[in-house]
Amino acid sequence: MASVIVLGAQWGDEGKGKIVDYLAQEADAVVRYSGGSNAGHTVVVNDIAYKLRLLPSGVLFPDKINILGNGVVINPKVVLEEIAGMQAKGIACKNLVISDRAHVVLPYHQRLDELQENALGSHKIGTTKSGIGPCYMDKVARVGIRICDLLEADTFAEKLKINLQAKNEIITKIYGAKPFIYQEVLEEYLGYAEQLRPYVTDTGVILDEAFAANKKVLFEGAQATFLDIDHGTYPYVTSSNPTGGNACTGSGIGPKNIDHVVGVVKAYTTRVGEGPFVTELFDADGNYLRETGREYGTVTGRPRRCGWLDAFMLRYSARLNSLDYLAITRLDILDGLPKIKMCVGYKYQGEVLKRIPASLNVLAQVEPIYEEFEGWLTDISSIRKYEDLPANAKKYLERLSEVAGVGLGIVSVGPNREQTIVLKELL
Ligand code: GDP
Ligand code: IMO
Ligand code: MG
Repeated sequence: MASVIVLGAQWGDEGKGKIVDYLAQEADAVVRYSGGSNAGHTVVVNDIAYKLRLLPSGVLFPDKINILGNGVVINPKVVLEEIAGMQAKGIACKNLVISDRAHVVLPYHQRLDELQENALGSHKIGTTKSGIGPCYMDKVARVGIRICDLLEADTFAEKLKINLQAKNEIITKIYGAKPFIYQEVLEEYLGYAEQLRPYVTDTGVILDEAFAANKKVLFEGAQATFLDIDHGTYPYVTSSNPTGGNACTGSGIGPKNIDHVVGVVKAYTTRVGEGPFVTELFDADGNYLRETGREYGTVTGRPRRCGWLDAFMLRYSARLNSLDYLAITRLDILDGLPKIKMCVGYKYQGEVLKRIPASLNVLAQVEPIYEEFEGWLTDISSIRKYEDLPANAKKYLERLSEVAGVGLGIVSVGPNREQTIVLKELL
C-alpha cells in the first residue's frame, strides 16, 4: 500500500493538478476530498491544457479510479459539463465515482454567494461565487441535500421544497432579489440526478477495497492551507478544510492509511480574492510575476495578486499538514529575474515572531524579513535532473526547504507532464 496526500501549502493555484497528474502515472486511484467547483486545476499533457474544476486530476488516465469523496460539494451541472467536455476530447471518464454522501450545490447557493458578497461591499471575501460557502453552511446547519437525497425523487422534492421556501425568504426579503421557482429547479435537478446515478456509490468502501488490495492512492487537495476555514487567514478563506487532516474525513478513511503528505509550493506566492498577504508586491517585480507567470484565475479570470515566496508560511504549513516532502512548481517563472527575495520570518513592532499571528490586525502590521538571492537568468524548462539546475536555483531551493523544515520531493520546471524533476519517488 502507498498513499500520498498532495495539497496546497499557500493560497491555492500552486500547481496541485500538475503534480497529481504526474504522480497519477504510478497510482491506482485519485480522490478529491474537499472543496468544489471553486477549484481550477490545470493539467497539461503534450501542450494540451485540461482545465478541471471538480474532476480529479487522474481523469486523463482511463485505468485509474477517480473519486469525488464525501467532503466535496458537487454542482451537478458543472460536473456533468466537465464530463461532457472531457468526452468530447476522447476521455471517457468511465472510472469516475461520486460519493453518495457528498453535498449538492444548488442554484440558490450560488445566488446567495453572490448576494452575500455584494452586501459585504468593501469587506467582501472575493469568493469565486460558486456557491461553496452557502452549501457548506447548509451542510453544517443539517439542512443540506446530499447526492443520495438527490437520487431519491421524493426525498429530493421534499427537501428542496423546505429549503427553497427558506432561501426564497432570504433572497427576496433581505436582498430584494428574484426568488427561485420550485417546479423549475425540481425538474432540472431530477434530470441531473439520472445522469449522475451511474457514477454514485459509497466511495469509502471503494477506498477500503483499494487499500486491502495494496493499491496506490492519491488524495488531491483543492484550495490550500491558508484558505482553510480553521487555519487560514479567516475570514478570507474558503468554507472547507483543505489541510491534510481532512483528506481522511473528506474521503471516509482512517488516518493510518496515509503514508506521505506532499505540500505543493509555487516558487513565489499568489493569492486571488481579498485578505492579508505579507509578501505582496506592487512594483515591477510583482508585474513580472503576473505577466511572465500569466497569473490570472482559471475559474474567474481575475488577476492574481503576486509576491515573493513566503517560506515562513511554509513552515507553518509543514507543521499543520505533517508535510514530509515539498513539490516546488513554476521555478521556471523566476528564470528572468536578476534578484529574487524570500521571506524567512516576520517582525511585529520590532520583534521577530515565532509563529503566524491569528489576528488579522497584527498580520496587517507584520513586516517580512527578506533574504536576497542572485537569479540564474537561464532557461531551466528543459532540465530534468536536479544536479543540472543552475547553482543559484539550487541555493534558492535548498534555503526554501531549510526554512520550511521539509525536504524537496519534486521540482517542476514547466506545465507539461514531463517538465518534472524527481528527487524522491513517492509511489
Ligand atoms: P492548482 O489549482 O493548484 O492545480 O493550480 P492551477 O492549475 O490553478 O495553476 C497552476 C498553473 O501553473 C497551471 O496553469 C499549470 O499548468 C501551471 N504549471 C504547473 N506547474 C508549472 C511549472 O512548473 N511551470 C510553469 N510554467 N507552469 C506550471
Ligand atoms: P485551487 O484548488 C485559489 C479563494 C477565493 C476567495 C476564497 C473564498 O484552484 O487552488 P470560495 O469561492 O471558496 O468561497 O472563495 O478562496 N479560492 C481559491 N483561490 N485557488 C483556489 O482553488 C481557490 N478556491 C477558492 O478566491 O479568496
Ligand atoms: Mg487553481
